[in-house]
Amino acid sequence: MSFTDIKDATARINRSELAVPGSNRRFLEKAAQAKADVVFLDLEDSVSPELKDEARKNVIEALNDLDWGEKTVSVRLNGLDTAWTYRDVVDVLEQTGERLDLMMLPKVGVAADVYALDVLVSQVERAKGRKKRIGFELIIESALGLANANAIAGASPRNESLHFGVADFAASVKADTTQIGGPNPRYAVLTDPLDDAGRREVHWGDMWHYPVWQMVVAARAHGLRPIDGPFGDFSDEAGFRAHAGRAMVLGCEGKWAIHPSQVALANEVFSPSDAEVAKARKILKAMEEARAQGQGAVALDGKLIDLASIRQAEAMVKKAEKIG
Ligand code: GLV
Ligand code: MG
Repeated sequence: MSFTDIKDATARINRSELAVPGSNRRFLEKAAQAKADVVFLDLEDSVSPELKDEARKNVIEALNDLDWGEKTVSVRLNGLDTAWTYRDVVDVLEQTGERLDLMMLPKVGVAADVYALDVLVSQVERAKGRKKRIGFELIIESALGLANANAIAGASPRNESLHFGVADFAASVKADTTQIGGPNPRYAVLTDPLDDAGRREVHWGDMWHYPVWQMVVAARAHGLRPIDGPFGDFSDEAGFRAHAGRAMVLGCEGKWAIHPSQVALANEVFSPSDAEVAKARKILKAMEEARAQGQGAVALDGKLIDLASIRQAEAMVKKAEKIG
């Protein structure tokens, strides 16, 4: 390890993050009952400009009056290029109690965006004597944001997580997309001819691989949680699972649910299975025995394991214990 110590952000379970439009009171009530680890009450892109003030009022009421149980609760603010962010921050923090945990800033482009939000939040917290420090969730969803993801991740001690906002990102880089977060048949490779008849197979690629992994690296380099964003086709359960599975494999801790039906799927995909945890424990035991005999690497079930395997296995066991 480097001599530079990476401190993990406040530990939270963040397998599923349910998005709920602040303009819809019924959806807010339903979201309070959901089995999501995190819920974000949206003031941004699911709310039309004419409804911004009403949505803010609804969200304030929902934070004060609804029982959110054990969930982590966040509010997605409007972006800094709008006329609404300051009111979102000031009204929500001045008019609610201590139930709110996080604020989510969309379309972050440079580290100074986070600094600006930190100044505003810090002043309202001080003025109002709020006890719980609000943490930040930051959406990486533009070419500028991805280019500056590392600096953004390190821009405030309030930072807890980076999120990949695939819809806005696609618009920002002018990508050719079919549906939010889904694959595109034109992003494919053809195999060489497989037989004398010249038959070839088409393999669709994952056009989101690079930005998601960039975000994961930037987040982890600063001890933050990387979280994958939306998958728009909420009727496509298999598609969601495949997409979430890829994000999980790359190191993401969770994924958004833009529909309540995606919550259980995300919780499942981002929870280690019993078999994975049992294997991790077996690795730890084998390495303990190996070390007692002065060995740094041994064979387990016909495969090499070494000291790095301990760190991977410990991370798996820790994750399982956190989820409980
Ligand atoms: C989320 O905000 C997205 O743009 O995908
Ligand atoms: Mg967006």
